Amino acid sequence: MDIIIKLAYLLASILFIIGIKRMNKPATARNGNSISAIGMLIAIVATMVQLNVMTLPEILICIVIGSAIGFYVAKKVEMTQMPEMVALFNGFGGLASVGVGLSEYWRESYENTQDIHTVTLVSILLSILIGGVTFTGSYVAFGKLSGRINGNAIVFKGQHMLNLLLLVVGIAGAAMVMYNQGWVTGMYILLFISLLLGVLVVIPIGGADMPVVISLLNSYSGMAACATGFVLNNYMLIVAGALVGSSGIILTDIMCKGMNRSLLNVVMGGFGQTAGTVATVGGKSDLVVKEVGVEEAAMLFDSASSVVIVPGYGMAVAQAQHAVKELMEILLKKNINVRFAIHPVAGRMPGHMNVLLAESNVPYDRLLEPEQIDDDLSNTDIVYVVGANDVVNPAARHDKSSPIFGMPIINADKAKTVIVSKRSMASGYAGIENELFGYPNCLMLFGDAKATLTKVVNELKEM
Ligand code: TAP
Repeated sequence: MDIIIKLAYLLASILFIIGIKRMNKPATARNGNSISAIGMLIAIVATMVQLNVMTLPEILICIVIGSAIGFYVAKKVEMTQMPEMVALFNGFGGLASVGVGLSEYWRESYENTQDIHTVTLVSILLSILIGGVTFTGSYVAFGKLSGRINGNAIVFKGQHMLNLLLLVVGIAGAAMVMYNQGWVTGMYILLFISLLLGVLVVIPIGGADMPVVISLLNSYSGMAACATGFVLNNYMLIVAGALVGSSGIILTDIMCKGMNRSLLNVVMGGFGQTAGTVATVGGKSDLVVKEVGVEEAAMLFDSASSVVIVPGYGMAVAQAQHAVKELMEILLKKNINVRFAIHPVAGRMPGHMNVLLAESNVPYDRLLEPEQIDDDLSNTDIVYVVGANDVVNPAARHDKSSPIFGMPIINADKAKTVIVSKRSMASGYAGIENELFGYPNCLMLFGDAKATLTKVVNELKEM
C-alpha cells in the first residue's frame, strides 16, 4: 500500500507541474487548471487511504463542509473581488499550518517520551512562524481590500525596527525551544510574535499595493505548507507547498517588474503618496481634454482600418468585456484589423484582463503583449483604451518625478488617434494624473465603459 500511495503522490506532483506549466499561456490555462485539479484529487484520495489520525467519515464531513464554503464563496465573489478571496484562502492555509504545527508539538510532547527529531521540530517551528505571519497578514490584507478596515498605509516611527526586533525575539524563542523542547511557553511566544508580525508587516502597505503582498503571502502559505509536509512526513505537501512557495515568489517578482518597483519598495509601503505627484481629486483635473460623443466615436471606428484595444481595471469594474467582444466582432465584419494589447499588470491581479476576455470568448491569438505590438502602434488608426489609465501613461517614459517612472507601458499615444473610455478625470491605481488625456491625438469618451461601448456598438450596427 505504501508504494501505491508514494506512486500516487508522484503522479499528482507531475500533474501539478504540467498544470502550472500550461497555465503559462491563456490558450492552455483552462486545461492546466483541470490537470492540476485531477492531481489534487489523486493526492486527496491517496491521503485519505492513510487514515491514522481521523476516520474516513470524519474526513468526509470536513471535506463536505470546506467544499460547500469554498463553492459558496467562489460563486458569490465578483471578478474584481478576486484578490481579497485569494487573501482569505491564503489565510486559511496559514492557519492550517499553525494548527498542524501546534498539534504535532503537543502530540509529540505528550505521547512520546523521546525527544522530537530535530528535522520535525525545526519544521514545526517554521510551520508556526510562517503560518502565523501568513494567517494574520492575509486577514489584514483581506480587511483592507474589502473595506472592513482602513485601506490606507498605517505607518509609525520605528515600525521597521520593531518588526526586525520581533523577528529576532521570535527566532531566539524558537532557538530556546530547540534547546529545551519542553518549554511550551516558548512555543506560545513564537506563536504570538508570528501573529503580531503578520499584522505589523501588512499595515504599512497601502490598500493599492495589496495584490503584490497577497502574491507574497500566497508564497508564504506555500512555504508554511511545505514545512508542514516535513512535520507530517507527507511528500505531497512538501512538493505542493514548494510549488506554491516558488511560483508565488516568481509571480511577485513579475508583478514588481511590471510596475518597475522593488519588492522592498512595496513592502516598505506608502506607494502613491510620493511627494510631487499630482493626484486628480474627485475626478477633476486641470488638463485640457477633447471629448468625443458616442456617434462620433462610432464614425471614427467605422473609418479605421486597424484598431488596438487596451483594456484596464475599469473594464473589470464595468464588466464591459462582452461589449468589448461585440465591438471586436462588428469591426472584424467591417474588415477592420482588431488586436488587443494586454499589459502584465493591467487590472488588479495577474492575468486579470486575460481571464475577463477569455470569459467573453475573445480568441487568444488576438491578445498580444506590449512588446509584440509596440512597433505597430504608430501605424494603428485607433488605440481604444477601455478603463485603463496607468498602463498607458506616457509619464512613465520621461517624468523622473513620477512614481511610475520606468514602468513599461503600452505606448498608446503613438497611434494616430486614441479614444479613452472612462467615467471622469479620476486617477487610476497610482493616484496620478495621466498626461495622455491632454494629448492632441487623444479623445475622451466619458461614461461607464459598458454603457458607452454598448451605445457605440449599436451605432456601428446601424452604419
Ligand atoms: P488603473 O490605472 O487603476 O485605472 C483604471 C481606470 O478605470 C480608472 O482611472 C477609472 O477612471 C476607470 N474606471 C473605473 N471604473 C470604470 C467604469 N465603470 N467604466 C470606465 N472606466 C472605469 O488601471 P490600469 O491601467 O489597468 O492599471 C493597473 C494599475 O494597477 C497599475 O498601476 C498597476 O501597477 C496596478 N496593480 C496591478 C496589479 C496587477 S497584478 N494587475 C497588481 C497591483 C497593482 P474613472 O474613475 O474616471 O472611471
